[in-house]
Amino acid sequence: MRFPLEISSKLPKQGASIFTTMSALANQHNALNLSQGFPNFPCPPELIEYVHEAMLAGQNQYAPMAGVPVLREKLAEKTRELYGATYDAEKEITVVPGGTMGIYAAITALVREGDEVVIIEPAYDSYVPAIELNGGRPIRIELSYPDFRIDWNEFKKVINFRTRMIILNSPHNPTGTLLDAEGIKQLARIVDGNDIIILSDEVYEHIVFDGLPHESMAKYPELAKRSLIVSSFGKTYHTTGWKLGYVVGPEKLMREFRKVYQFMAFSAHTPSQYAYARILDNKALYHELAAFYQHKRDLFADALKSSRFEVLPCKGSYFQLLKYDKISDMKDTDFAKELTVKYQIASIPISVFYLSRRDEHILRFCFAKDDETLLKAAEILCKI
Ligand SMILES: Cc1ncc(COP(=O)(O)O)c(C=O)c1O
Repeated sequence: MRFPLEISSKLPKQGASIFTTMSALANQHNALNLSQGFPNFPCPPELIEYVHEAMLAGQNQYAPMAGVPVLREKLAEKTRELYGATYDAEKEITVVPGGTMGIYAAITALVREGDEVVIIEPAYDSYVPAIELNGGRPIRIELSYPDFRIDWNEFKKVINFRTRMIILNSPHNPTGTLLDAEGIKQLARIVDGNDIIILSDEVYEHIVFDGLPHESMAKYPELAKRSLIVSSFGKTYHTTGWKLGYVVGPEKLMREFRKVYQFMAFSAHTPSQYAYARILDNKALYHELAAFYQHKRDLFADALKSSRFEVLPCKGSYFQLLKYDKISDMKDTDFAKELTVKYQIASIPISVFYLSRRDEHILRFCFAKDDETLLKAAEILCKI
């Protein structure tokens, strides 16, 4: 008997993500992979010891749903010290298997059929599918070009009674821009008196350059009371493969978040939670992360001085945008493929972060790589 198994896809337009595609192409052509955002250097060795020790000590069963208490306490202390915000470790902090799941659970918990969710493009690729799978409508605002700033007048225009959520991401992937104090003021004005939730993707919170501050929603009580803030241990400790992150937010929002999250993963990897709880005592590690990556940003940019690529400003995150309009007028997707196949260097074309596929001839390069790789990459790029 024939069994057609017809499936009406819930994400009909979704193919493999560009990160999968470019990484596969990079492997196939033995290219330097500066496409996907992960470090190619090791995490602090003591972190591995801590995980091992937790395993040997028998911490191998389900953690409490919200995360192991010692870790939540440490995160509450850290958030208080860094941003002056008091979150109750018991009720207002949840450890999750990675920032992406934090984002997905937050959207699933709070966005209903027909709700509008404002996102800023270019945007990290998990937001839109999460909104759409929950019946929400993504409302897109494009950052201004060429400075990649939020046009708050445009922003204001899209806010209406259907707006349920605003998703912000600072430091921003892929542009490396930051939300500044003026932006915070504008945002506060826009949401004031509205029933709007802010989902603040702050996974690069410690990677902010040139002495600039990270403007966390946690710093602003009027914004914090309506915000779920997502962070990722993977970005801070060079452990993206461990997939552990956390979400903080006021009890009212966190209660709803947990109702959903408990049925997504229930709890996150136990030994890693104990390990991060221990390494959080070494505060220098996250305080010094900005200088560590600023060195890499500057090394890469300096080595590109003689190239025909234009190095765009990068104030945070570990992504450097390079504009290639003096080299080629090819589409950025084609140019990125050509660089991978012909020159063995992989990047991400930034048009894929826009629904409109806006193409300004810009590629994103991840500089979370050892210095040797960055210099080798720059040497190749200087020949193009
Ligand atoms: C802007 C942004 N948000 C969230 C994430 C996901 O973080 P995690 O690896 O902890 O799921 C990433 C990872 O690349 C990211 O760039």
